[in-house]
Amino acid sequence: MPRLPRRSDLSGADVGFNWGVTSVLIARLRSDLAAANFSVTALTGLWGVEADAALQRNQRVPARRGLAALQAKLGRVEPSATLAELFVLGLSVAQADLAAALPTLTVAGAEELGLVSAGVPVGAVAAGTNPSGAAELGLVTSLVPAGAKPSGAKPSGADPSGAEIDSAELPASAPFAPARVRPLVELRPYSFLDEFGADSWWIVSDLGELALGRPLGESHVLGIGGASRTLSGLIMPTPAGRVLDLGTGCGIQAMHASRHAEHVVATDISERALELAALNAALNGIDTIEFRLGSLFEPVAGERFDHIISNPPFVITPRTPGVPSYEYRDGGMVGDALVEAVVRGAAAHLNPGGVAQLLGNWEYRAAAPAAAGVEAGPTASVTDAFARLESWLDAPAAPGPVPFDGDAPAERPASARTTEYDRSTPSNGTEPADAPPLDAWVIEREVQLPSEYAETWIRDGGTRPGPDFDRLYTAWLDDFAARGVTRVGFGYLLLRLPATPDGHVGTAGASTLRRLERLPDALGHNPTGLGSHLAACLAAHDWQAAMDDARLLRAHLTVASDVTEERHFWPGQDDPTLMTLHQGGGFGRKVALDTALAALIGACDGDLNVGAIIGALAQLLDADEGDLSAELLPRVRELLDDGFLLPPA
Ligand SMILES: C[S@@+](CC[C@H](N)C(=O)[O-])C[C@H]1O[C@@H](n2cnc3c(N)ncnc32)[C@H](O)[C@@H]1O
Repeated sequence: MPRLPRRSDLSGADVGFNWGVTSVLIARLRSDLAAANFSVTALTGLWGVEADAALQRNQRVPARRGLAALQAKLGRVEPSATLAELFVLGLSVAQADLAAALPTLTVAGAEELGLVSAGVPVGAVAAGTNPSGAAELGLVTSLVPAGAKPSGAKPSGADPSGAEIDSAELPASAPFAPARVRPLVELRPYSFLDEFGADSWWIVSDLGELALGRPLGESHVLGIGGASRTLSGLIMPTPAGRVLDLGTGCGIQAMHASRHAEHVVATDISERALELAALNAALNGIDTIEFRLGSLFEPVAGERFDHIISNPPFVITPRTPGVPSYEYRDGGMVGDALVEAVVRGAAAHLNPGGVAQLLGNWEYRAAAPAAAGVEAGPTASVTDAFARLESWLDAPAAPGPVPFDGDAPAERPASARTTEYDRSTPSNGTEPADAPPLDAWVIEREVQLPSEYAETWIRDGGTRPGPDFDRLYTAWLDDFAARGVTRVGFGYLLLRLPATPDGHVGTAGASTLRRLERLPDALGHNPTGLGSHLAACLAAHDWQAAMDDARLLRAHLTVASDVTEERHFWPGQDDPTLMTLHQGGGFGRKVALDTALAALIGACDGDLNVGAIIGALAQLLDADEGDLSAELLPRVRELLDDGFLLPPA
């Protein structure tokens, strides 16, 4: 793997490879991957959809069988099959096959890049088959058993039975035992669809549990997981100048951000993560990302961005000796303090009007700590996690040591809807004068009990039921009990630094959005992700928040194209007993309607303004027009916020 400069060498400068040699090798790799058609659809073609689904569940047997069957049928090894076996399934392959699959880069080149490991000196292998070299990127290793003759001509790959043939296991006397190469990293094709169209990349990350045959190491660099996809689908595609990806890992969010940003700064505490991220950007021809090493906002001290994206290491982990701390998911802080640090720190790094989007866990805590080792009982008074989140939003300052918050302000009911932020709320004294409370839209998607949470993340680390599992389980429950944690929420945070109309940091009264909601139900169908929906809802919110009721009454609104209405009738009756508005995209929301609201929405085709529609309805329903307006306008504002109704174009 090419080395990045040491941290002490950085002096705040960008992180980068010695591109002299490496960029040539990366270009060769790119050309070989393209020539082999190493793509998501090609892999499905190799082993079938059932094997694809099994791989999603971390099971590779069906894929191995599919590859073996294909090889038997064709009588040859396809380059894409060799690459898939090596880099996706994590199995060793014959060096000759890899040489055929990487004709430009060569096996030695893959070794040079750190993609593979060859068990014999590069020169010895190269003499027979690989004149130019692939080992520098650290992507492969070739294995030649003692006494075996390297043979570039032998077909190889998986045994048709599905069992891996690893040359290291062959008897030393095996005649013509093929030299084999093993992967040092995963390298997978990744395809996606976003606001800018369909595209695909190749992504390098550390070997997973399957290939390693053991739990992941603490410095593992994760590939693209479920949380990565969730966040990339949420990223608002609004054109931006500067974007920050905090905790970039393999670089996937920074790469997505590069599609709507002029310049991206990607940071991580892990040097290896930055190396892999820089490799991924280069491999996919993206040159607008700058990589910086450091914790949290430290690498961007004093800088501001239009958009901050972060899938931070938010997993809550006990700080107990013997409990592994995985860099990729755990920021080393107590409880949800890392998420708090990102939330509180965002304001100082956003441009006015800039948005931060992140995933996170947050704790619901008993209002008073339980005795050591004792879970908070069902009757304990619990501080709503949303109240804790709001306290972070209201005081955008760097957090100090995180205290137990049993003395948190009295519990506030979680806002179910958008609420105007009350600027008369006294400051708690910790916010800097130039950082007003943040606008926020928080969506809690899941809530887990401490036991469920512990099981999820112990399993994620590769520990299976047994004494070690029980030891970790105990540590997790003790840790939760120490802070009186009763539940853990997971969801999405969208934060915005309020701006004045002339583009300065908002002053008192500039904030209009404080929306914290629970959306546990299935989300709508969004082939291109939720990012554009979030952006449209935010714009609609800003539009309606700037309108007093008189101006809103003069507005011509339309119904969004994904909205349908469902009506239920008692048999034989003309009037519906139940009317529901459905959103096909976005968050797939449902809204119960009464007669007046259903009629108002039905008439919102852009012809009549809201006031005229309400006037006509008042006559029809024999209602007072003023009363009807007072009843309907707040609902209209909510429907605009949720994307059911659209403001004038
Ligand atoms: C959950 S992974 C996210 C990776 C990638 N952004 C994605 O979405 O798939 C979190 C990343 O944060 C990094 N990290 C851990 N602690 C950090 C810290 N204190 N400051 C910055 N990054 C940190 C980890 O090394 C890891 O790469």
